Amino acid sequence: METIFSGIQPSGIPTIGNYIGAMKQFVDLQNQYDCYFCIVDEHAITVPQDPIKLRQQIRGLAALYLAVGLDPKKATIFIQSEVSAHAEAAWIIQCNTTIGELERMTQFKDKSQKNGRTGVSAGLLTYPPLMVGDIILYNANLVPVGDDQKQHLELTRDFVERFNKRYGQKNQELLVMPEVKIAEQGGRVMSLQDPTSKMSKSDTNAKGFISMLDEPNVIRKKIKSAVTDSTGIIEYDPENKPGISNLLSIFSAVTGRPVAELVSAYEGKGYGDFKSDLAEAVVDLLEPIQIRYNELLASDELDEILDEGADKARLVANKTLQRMKNAIGLGRKS
Ligand code: TYM
Repeated sequence: METIFSGIQPSGIPTIGNYIGAMKQFVDLQNQYDCYFCIVDEHAITVPQDPIKLRQQIRGLAALYLAVGLDPKKATIFIQSEVSAHAEAAWIIQCNTTIGELERMTQFKDKSQKNGRTGVSAGLLTYPPLMVGDIILYNANLVPVGDDQKQHLELTRDFVERFNKRYGQKNQELLVMPEVKIAEQGGRVMSLQDPTSKMSKSDTNAKGFISMLDEPNVIRKKIKSAVTDSTGIIEYDPENKPGISNLLSIFSAVTGRPVAELVSAYEGKGYGDFKSDLAEAVVDLLEPIQIRYNELLASDELDEILDEGADKARLVANKTLQRMKNAIGLGRKS
């Protein structure tokens, strides 16, 4: 059976973009793959975090993983910082990656341009090698992510090729080469207020995103006030009509109805009707998830699942880490 690894940062409450681009894929794939789904808390501290909030968000994200339908019998669910191999592997990977490669990452360029090089942590630059480590430690064949992670996956593939060439023995694969998997519909969910930029959980304008824990009336209001255009015609044309096209792709991802079917179902109808049906579809999706989330947060079950997940993850990760150390010549023992 092939292996999947993916992770989400507990840097805020996940949005419907995280759900459509990542979590929904996780649930669909857990039956066919050996899966590892991680709460990547070490990634979250590349920017300042409030310690109390961070702890809450870590547990909250774990509860959401389960509430959307991940089954701990099928998938290993764990917290990154509870498996020390991640930080160790990241160091080895950094030493085999150039600063030039890291400075080319668009996420680093965007954030460091906004805050200046002295205003961002060194971790923001060296964050992609930590992500490379996450993936290779579990020998992942496939990594389901949203479109914004494509460049990091390319870096991972470049690293694997280089490391295997440099340190691998003939005919023996040292690290597994991963493939990226991007959702067909909703790989890049856009902001409701600015449909030319990505929906993000750290957006300062809360109207731009739907949080997975937003109350039904908040969801309805946010969708009602989503930016569209003045033509009033419901059609899929991301270039010229980014607002309505984004709403169509959210509608499609949430209900499983193809965009073309939605376009013909709403022919001749106005944006108002469309938006209120979309809002109900999103509420129908999120309400049961929120109920289950609250039950899980209050249960001991959640911590038991995370303890077990970390134990299972450690076994696999430590083996790969030792293989890397042996190949490089670190330490004394194999
Ligand atoms: P993060 O926490 O920013 O996002 C988690 C996942 O959600 C996807 N996503 C989106 N998909 C569609 N539309 C959007 N608007 C949207 N916003 C976010 C992201 O692409 C991602 O799949 N570096 C990663 C976390 C990570 C990881 C890993 C992922 C760390 N190690 C190893 C895969 C494998 C990140 O910051 O994701």
